Amino acid sequence: MTSTRRLVLSSDHAAIALRQTIADHVAAQGWDVVDIGPTTPESTHYPKHGQAAAERVASGDCVLGIILCGTGQGIMMAANKVRGIRCGVCSDTFSARMIRQHNDANMLSIGARVVGDGLALDIVDAFLSAEFEGGRHATRVEMIEG
Ligand code: RB5
Repeated sequence: MTSTRRLVLSSDHAAIALRQTIADHVAAQGWDVVDIGPTTPESTHYPKHGQAAAERVASGDCVLGIILCGTGQGIMMAANKVRGIRCGVCSDTFSARMIRQHNDANMLSIGARVVGDGLALDIVDAFLSAEFEGGRHATRVEMIEG
C-alpha cells in the first residue's frame, strides 16, 4: 500500500541544488522522499524527468510530486501529459495552497530560476499542508479528467 507520506521529487539540470534543498526540508517533516534525480549537473531534457515523476504519482507509488526546472513551466507541461496528473507551476504561496484546495493538484512545479530558496520552501509548505475541499470543486476536477 502506498504511504500517505510518500512524495516524488525530480528536476532537470537547472534545479538540482534547489531540489536537494527541498528534499532535505520535506524529509525533516517526515515525508518519505523518492528523489529520482538527476544527480549530476550535465544538461538534460526536462520532459523525461517530468514524465518519470508523473508516472510515480499516476501509478500510486507516490501520493504527491514536486518537480522543478528553470521556469517550472516545461517540466509541468510534460507532467500534465500523464493521465491523472494535475500539476501547477507556483511562484507564490497563495497559488500553491489553492491548487490543492480547489484543483486537487497532485503535483507542484517550481522554477528554480524564478524564486529564491526561502520562497520555494514556503511554496512547498503551502502546497503540502493544504487539503482538497471537494464539493463543487470535485465536479470541476472531474471535468478536467474527462
Ligand atoms: C533549461 O535551460 C530550461 O529551458 C529548463 O530548465 C526549463 O526552464 C524549461 O521550461
